[in-house]
Amino acid sequence: MAKQSAAVEGGGSGCIGLFDSGVGGLTVLREVMRQLPRWDTIYLADSANCPYGARPAEEIRRLSEGISRCLIERGARAIVVACNTASAVALRGLRECFPGVPFVGMVPAIKPAAALTKSGAVGVLATPPTLHGRLLGDAVERYAGGVRVLSQACPGLVERIEEGDLDGPATEALVRRCLEPLLGQGVDVIALGCTHYPFVAPLIQRLAGPEVRLLDPSEAVARQVARVLPEQGSGSGRHVFLTSGEPEALARAVRRLLGLAVQPEPVAWRDGRLG
Ligand code: DGL
Repeated sequence: MAKQSAAVEGGGSGCIGLFDSGVGGLTVLREVMRQLPRWDTIYLADSANCPYGARPAEEIRRLSEGISRCLIERGARAIVVACNTASAVALRGLRECFPGVPFVGMVPAIKPAAALTKSGAVGVLATPPTLHGRLLGDAVERYAGGVRVLSQACPGLVERIEEGDLDGPATEALVRRCLEPLLGQGVDVIALGCTHYPFVAPLIQRLAGPEVRLLDPSEAVARQVARVLPEQGSGSGRHVFLTSGEPEALARAVRRLLGLAVQPEPVAWRDGRLG
């Protein structure tokens, strides 16, 4: 395991900021680190307010704005909304609120899903705000063609992943229940529309069977981050982690997914601001 210094005072100048309701956005950070190794990063997990999927849109917008302000104050030159739910609800408002900062959001991979399916039916696993949001609606309208797109929410799955239960009996039963309606309708491609779900991709793959393709958009999102950044980056590979939840829980998820030993810095919400 690579040893990571415990950087706690911010990402310095010129870093890429990323945020999610919790640990899910680490699946996007992994790709950003792989594709943009010359950039420092600062990742914020709003685990105190996780899951976002159960919250009213107005609240998700307010939280996303507070987090973006915090990341910009700590030197973020671009921000990745590494959460499909926050992207669906807040991305447009964030671009209006912070016009000088490029924002990159998440949207389920409908275009490649429609290109890959042989059965003519693809599934999307995501939270209700993502499934009902305009970003997904627009992607379906533009790219699905004659392909049927079946939506499926997975209530409780984000919470299980936050707890680190990636393949226990309760998580397996929950995933099985979510997959049944999709598989019953002949879906052969599933777009993972929540950044938490790649954590349980091995379980989903095992239950869905080898003939079903799973699509995670984080590689394409990292490519988009490279396109919006003004330069190549001159960081020193410094990766800072902040959380409004339990630092040890984030440290465990970072260790498991990225192979890094880090000491996340706790941050707290006060009057709509993070500090
Ligand atoms: N990772 C978030 C997403 O991509 C999780 C949503 C939640 O917190 O409910 O949608």
